[in-house]
Amino acid sequence: MDVVIFGAGGLGREIYDTLLTINAGTAGSTARFNLLGFIDEVKTPGVLVNGVPVLGGADVLASLRGRVGVILGIADAAVRKKLHQHYRADFAFPNIIHPSAFVSGFATLGEAILLQSSCIVAANARIGDGVMMNAHSGVGHDAEVEDYCSIMSYCDLAGGSKLGTLSFVGTGAKVIPSTSIAAESYLCAGAVVFKSVVEKSKLMGNPAKIIG
Ligand SMILES: CC(C)(COP(=O)(O)OP(=O)(O)OC[C@H]1O[C@@H](n2cnc3c(N)ncnc32)[C@H](O)[C@@H]1OP(=O)(O)O)[C@@H](O)C(=O)NCCC(=O)NCCS
Repeated sequence: MDVVIFGAGGLGREIYDTLLTINAGTAGSTARFNLLGFIDEVKTPGVLVNGVPVLGGADVLASLRGRVGVILGIADAAVRKKLHQHYRADFAFPNIIHPSAFVSGFATLGEAILLQSSCIVAANARIGDGVMMNAHSGVGHDAEVEDYCSIMSYCDLAGGSKLGTLSFVGTGAKVIPSTSIAAESYLCAGAVVFKSVVEKSKLMGNPAKIIG
């Protein structure tokens, strides 16, 4: 499949590494994901990012309608949502799953999902559209991660927990079993959440306290 990565920043470059790893393990001589280049509104077209050209901005993407899959290399969840909803009628949004990730056959995945190295999605968990999980993060059995959540590295959402749409989970944060987090919440790095949160909140510390 021909693909472009939208966003040539840090996340976009991490995704490129994942595509290389996926392709290296693909049987036969054809790459599973043939990266044509980055789509980026800021970088100069033609510039190389880790050897891959920046093709241009949204105008260039429009010219590729129906011919490429789009991978969202944007960490900002609201921007991911906007791009996915704007382009989803015209472009495929493949899930990018690092070969070292484990996804239960009983889990349910939406589209435009990124699961980086060593992520775990356990039995009967549900991962919504446009969710990104960075390296070594896990979602337990029956847990629900709603659309466009961003989960940074080394996080753990335990069994039966629920993360509301557009929430951010900072590096190393944890949510104990059967705990619900309201939409658009922000878990600071290292937060450990023991109690459900019913309104959009910023949570910090262990045990996590609402700080905003
Ligand atoms: C919560 C956060 C946004 C605060 O950032 P900030 O407003 O710049 O805060 P500061 O760094 O100025 O720190 C203010 C105080 O809060 C403390 N603090 C900051 N982040 C904290 C955290 N996650 N947990 C506990 N205490 C924290 C600092 O030690 C400092 O304490 P002090 O006043 O006693 O010295 C940030 O630290 C964070 O956790 N971001 C998540 C980042 C992440 O996971 N990114 C993904 C990787 S790409």
